[in-house]
Amino acid sequence: MSQPIILDTDPGIDDAAAIAAVLFAPELDLKLMTTVAGNVSVEKTTRNALQLLHFWQADVPLAQGAAAPLLRPLRDAAYVHGESGMEGYDFIDHQRQPLAKPAFQAIRDLLMHSPEPVTLVAIGPLTNIALLLSQYPECQFNIRRLVIMGGSAGRGNFTPNAEFNIAIDPEAAARVFQSGLPIVMCGLDVTNQAVLTPEYLAALPTLNKTGEMLHALFSHYRSGSMNSGLRMHDLCAIAYLARPEIFTLKPCFVAVETQGTYTAGTTVVDIEGRLGQPANAEVALGLDVEGFRRWVAEVLALAL
Ligand code: BDR
Ligand code: CA
Repeated sequence: MSQPIILDTDPGIDDAAAIAAVLFAPELDLKLMTTVAGNVSVEKTTRNALQLLHFWQADVPLAQGAAAPLLRPLRDAAYVHGESGMEGYDFIDHQRQPLAKPAFQAIRDLLMHSPEPVTLVAIGPLTNIALLLSQYPECQFNIRRLVIMGGSAGRGNFTPNAEFNIAIDPEAAARVFQSGLPIVMCGLDVTNQAVLTPEYLAALPTLNKTGEMLHALFSHYRSGSMNSGLRMHDLCAIAYLARPEIFTLKPCFVAVETQGTYTAGTTVVDIEGRLGQPANAEVALGLDVEGFRRWVAEVLALAL
């Protein structure tokens, strides 16, 4: 039986790879995709997400989400993904439109009508998820778990300590970590290791149409390089769903710093239990890198 999934995303080049995996991994059943402002504006992440769904002829509804973080202006990552958020490939025109309701409403409706609990996966800032939990706490019962790409138990990639997705909307992340939901955090501790090799990247165009398209996007992606290898942050959250055994997790108390002049957006991961607080997340601290690469090769070979 495949797992029902809702994916909240801000495509984003590594998001595009994650969307490929969620669509083609036989263990996963994507029921709804929602967009959020992050790597670029929400208008662009929505346009990119629709282009990807069209490219893969996927019959999955999409709802557009928050245009800005809860309390702060958006700071984007166009320096990593290009001005469009998915630089490097010319997608063909299509007529697809987002649903006529906002992301948090669409997620709520799906959860309330699902006959079984659904896994929420968030690979952008946590704005939509925080809105969902504050507006519709009654739907929490049908969230099997929340798997996120975000945070770090060590250094950051946006500020010295903060990872991008958490740093962009720390207030949303803080609410989510305080919500009591079962959370799996795939942060930089594992995603910085999730590197696709230059050899694999070079062979992608011969794999299939998806490989050709991803290769074109990857050539414009700035988290690593085609010559030294590329970090597939968001793919890690999907890998966790399909291959949990390649991750080492530790239950920890995680707090999100919202106040610090230099540290806002930092995930304080209490690995040694020094704060005496109950664990609120399973934090991924180890990754079988070869196992990850094998799985990526396997799932992308199944794509169009
Ligand atoms: C995260 O930030 C974004 O730029 C990526 O898409 C990923 O979700 C990595 O820190
Ligand atoms: Ca992302």
